[in-house]
Amino acid sequence: MKIISIVGARPQFIKEAIVQEELRKQANVEHIVLHTGQHYDAEMSTVFFDTLKMRPPDYMLGIKAQLHGEMTGLMLIELERVFLKERPDIVLLYGDTNSTVAGALAAAKLKLRTAHVEAGLRQTPRWIPEEVNRVVTDRVSDVLFAPSQLAMGNLQREGLLDRAVNVGDVMYDLYLRAVSRFDTSVVDRLRLEGKRYIVMTLHRDFNVDKQENLAAILSAANTIAAEQPVVFPVHPRTAKRIAEFGLESLAKNITIVPPLDYLSLMGLTQHASFVITDSGGYQKEAYFAGKRAAIIMEDTGWRELVESGYHVLASAETLYDAVYASKPYRDMGLVYGAGDAAAKIVKHLVEIAN
Ligand code: UD1
Repeated sequence: MKIISIVGARPQFIKEAIVQEELRKQANVEHIVLHTGQHYDAEMSTVFFDTLKMRPPDYMLGIKAQLHGEMTGLMLIELERVFLKERPDIVLLYGDTNSTVAGALAAAKLKLRTAHVEAGLRQTPRWIPEEVNRVVTDRVSDVLFAPSQLAMGNLQREGLLDRAVNVGDVMYDLYLRAVSRFDTSVVDRLRLEGKRYIVMTLHRDFNVDKQENLAAILSAANTIAAEQPVVFPVHPRTAKRIAEFGLESLAKNITIVPPLDYLSLMGLTQHASFVITDSGGYQKEAYFAGKRAAIIMEDTGWRELVESGYHVLASAETLYDAVYASKPYRDMGLVYGAGDAAAKIVKHLVEIAN
């Protein structure tokens, strides 16, 4: 059986790492990894392959584009070529990026079987690029690996339940397997005191691409940073916007550092007091690490996290209160599975291919 994994962006490397480990145990599986090139900086890409001990991609498409249509279109052309050459039994897709939707469309047009890891997440408003990517990918994929009961409910409402299976979240698997290797050297290097600093990440288009939104969030975080350190591993997109809009002075209390690899970000998070983020993956990783978070979004695909009261949705205006006015929350139990999502996924893939 031949499986091709499509990856391209940071959160996909993380998910692929754990599935790849499981696939390696299968004697009859030929596994090919294709990297679209969506994320290309060493610290956004290579470092994940190195620190998570992944094997290098078999294909590196090197697609760099600014506009979504152009990026997705170029990926479609190249992916189709690779699929025609390799003729895989299964195309494995992760999450909600442009690389995901390009893989889904290219495979579906060639009538190749596709499986979507992290299926069934839904978030408003529906025009968010990640939401568009999720809806299209779920619609055309043959197997939908949902990470939670909530995701299964969403798929049921859309009439997709017959293709869906709740396997749990592969990111929880990775957390459990990697926790003993978390790297806390950044904590020492920045001379941070445990439980007395906040970690912030910010990269979503609706927060960083409009000057007034980015300025308001940075100002709010800057006020908080006057009271306790706010460490901000900055995404290249956000770094570019800060420079372009000339907002450096609004962030002068904030400790800006380059993007961190998975083990370092989690090491930093482990000892933090709180998290501020607009990342889908990181809001969950904060929860795994027992850290509450303010999510700078109108809505989240991981609604359990806010419905339980553990995390809170926030805006620039409400950020200060979100950080300091913590409310009681409801225990969610094993809402993202038992750490065996990757094993379940691989078992399922082997079954359907035979
Ligand atoms: C993408 C995903 C998002 C995911 C995020 C994780 C889409 C629509 N969005 O968003 O779901 O949460 O990855 O980080 O696919 N850039 C660099 N170097 C890099 C990568 C990006 O300089 O290695 C810059 C480029 O200018 C690029 C911009 O960042 O145009 C945005 O990158 P892009 O991949 O389009 O979107 P992300 O914001 O990273």
